[in-house]
Amino acid sequence: MGLIKMEEYIRIFDTTLRDGEQTPGVSLVPDEKLEIALQLDKLGVDVIEAGFPSASEGEFQAVKRIAETGLKAEVCALARATKSDVDAAMACEVNSIHTFIPTSDIQIKYVLNGTREEVLKETEKITQYIKAHGFLCEFSPMDATRTDLVFLKKVCLVAQDCRVDRINIPDTVGVASPCYMRKLISELKRVVKVPISVHCHNDFGMAVANSLGGVEGGATQVHVTVNGLGERAGNAALEEVVMALHVIHKKKTGINTKLLYETSKLVSRLTGIPLQPNKAIVGENAFAHESGIHTKGVVAKPETFEPLTPEMVGRKRKIVAGKHAGRQGLRAELEAVGIHVTQNQLDEIFRRVKALGDKGKPVTDTDLFAIARAVTGVPEKNVVKLLGFTVVTGSETTPMASVKLKINDKEYIATETGVGPVDSAIKAIQKIVDKLVGVKLKEYRLEAITGGSDALAEVVIKIEDDQGNIVSAGSASEDIVKASVEAMVNGINKLLIKRGTTN
Ligand code: KIV
Ligand code: ZN
Repeated sequence: MGLIKMEEYIRIFDTTLRDGEQTPGVSLVPDEKLEIALQLDKLGVDVIEAGFPSASEGEFQAVKRIAETGLKAEVCALARATKSDVDAAMACEVNSIHTFIPTSDIQIKYVLNGTREEVLKETEKITQYIKAHGFLCEFSPMDATRTDLVFLKKVCLVAQDCRVDRINIPDTVGVASPCYMRKLISELKRVVKVPISVHCHNDFGMAVANSLGGVEGGATQVHVTVNGLGERAGNAALEEVVMALHVIHKKKTGINTKLLYETSKLVSRLTGIPLQPNKAIVGENAFAHESGIHTKGVVAKPETFEPLTPEMVGRKRKIVAGKHAGRQGLRAELEAVGIHVTQNQLDEIFRRVKALGDKGKPVTDTDLFAIARAVTGVPEKNVVKLLGFTVVTGSETTPMASVKLKINDKEYIATETGVGPVDSAIKAIQKIVDKLVGVKLKEYRLEAITGGSDALAEVVIKIEDDQGNIVSAGSASEDIVKASVEAMVNGINKLLIKRGTTN
């Protein structure tokens, strides 16, 4: 880092429940907000911005409940620079209040309808009011990165003179660059003596890089959201900022990185925003290797193609088959489920996987195992076979499903009720196989492949057994229940192969 002095510990200010909830289409109910807050506390964030109490009655109640829960983290509420907003935040009995006011000329004119002089006056009034009531105060000059630097310093000095505890510098419309952010923060540090924080938006895909630039400039706190949720293109992603701080910048945070993946999954599930597969740290492919060169390398020594281990963030490495696959990777993937092959068999499996990949088809684990079975001459041994199912559903009846399975030549039937026919059928399957293997449904995804009410539906599920083995499986049919039942049965058979209990 040359001459740049960087503080050791960087505070993580999480705004998933405030800026993250401003993601278009996301709205969390108080129970969901509380569940996320508890997870963030377990994860070890320093501050939880729980919401914007003056936004609605539900938001007020959610922030109040989070503040009452007795978390280790500081619980913060957002307030515009108005007495009514601040009063609402105080009534939630939070630990700190984050107040903001526009400072760029464009926002002063079109958002505030005011003048620079008024901004200085309001800053003084509101920060004094918050401090006089004994609350910690974080002050944000909104749109700081488009604010005239001389005026920005003036506003910050007014807030500092009113004894604010931290000043946060927002890159509200994401127009900064890492170098600009570094210079801006080091310039501000010449006059600002309270800790400086940064809050970067991702409009040009640089929120994480800009946050790190801010840290290089001397910021000791970073605003982040889980999965990078937030207004428009989002905020700096917590998991990316934290891992980059730890691994690249050799900084410390209070985050237990092993909980990053489960936190990401929880937030994705509750907000309904799926993760792109190639998302850093938490995306499906972040620790998956397909190409022959890479799989050979990671099988021999993971550091060859992994800058951090999957275990560091609570994940597992995945070797996947495909047209770029190498023999070593295929062998590793097969051996992980107990299929051992000779060199000649491996050569043939390798040839067939490439041929399938060359036809433009993704090669799933099911394809690979089927190829391996064909090549090794081991007959397909599905322990669990679907013999049939029926469902009853409608507005006047409780949805119900009966499923008939054959397990090792014995027939079983179970009937269950649920919230719908799919839920009922999955529960009936779980009931039958329970003696063989306890199965939890971790993920269920439904995609229509074609249009219309007769669309082909693809169901992809992820299930986990009581030993922590996880498999994905799928099926496609015009009938959603049929696709779901088949996917579940396929998944259970894959789990049994993985456990080595197919006999
Ligand atoms: O992006 C922004 O400027 C904000 C403020 C409320 C700090 O979220
Ligand atoms: Zn923001």
